[in-house]
Amino acid sequence: MTPDLFDALEDDALPATQPLAPGAVLLRRFARPRDEVLLAGVAQVIAQAPLRHLVTPGGFRMSVAMSNCGGLGWVSDRSGYRYDAKDPESGRPWPAMPAAFLDLAATAAQAGGFEGFAPDACLINRYEPGTRLSLHQDRDEGHYDWPIVSVSMGLPAVFLFGGGRRSDKAQRIPLAHGDVVVWGGPSRLHYHGVLPVKEGVHPLTGPCRINLTFRKAG
Ligand code: SIN
Ligand code: FE2
Repeated sequence: MTPDLFDALEDDALPATQPLAPGAVLLRRFARPRDEVLLAGVAQVIAQAPLRHLVTPGGFRMSVAMSNCGGLGWVSDRSGYRYDAKDPESGRPWPAMPAAFLDLAATAAQAGGFEGFAPDACLINRYEPGTRLSLHQDRDEGHYDWPIVSVSMGLPAVFLFGGGRRSDKAQRIPLAHGDVVVWGGPSRLHYHGVLPVKEGVHPLTGPCRINLTFRKAG
């Protein structure tokens, strides 16, 4: 895809790697050279395990639509949050993680300073305009030895990246198509979230933002 003038100016003005906190880094446009392969992988996965709106333990329907691939998938229902080897909707194992996903996650983690990352869980999040994700920690993995690798595709969004306490002031980080955020080590349990996605249409994803979140959950 030919980047437009705004993208070109932006790319020149900003460093490719931006440290966010100890153990946390933004890798600008890191996934862009592989965007079409990654989105083909998403299409393949969601054909087998369709995106759905999960219900929180408190009974609210999440506005972000989710699915998973890999040995474990993150799910939520009235009984709580957990990782499950099976898609509760179909009773079947989650689709395998495409090779391109594993490779991207490992190379991004390495660029962020974490060598040897082999995720067993990939959460796929679809944000339609107006959709947000409130501040939270990723802590259902039960151990925090490996980083989180989070890939943004499609519509832009503002990522909130806070500290170890909910009340810590969060940085507002604009994320564009292909940006990857890696956080681990001392920032592994930092609070994070996504502000409401603005209206728009992206040439590759249409009117939505797709996020892939890689984790080692087992
Ligand atoms: C997440 O925290 O699961 C997703 C973050 C994002 O969409 O950028
Ligand atoms: Fe998260």
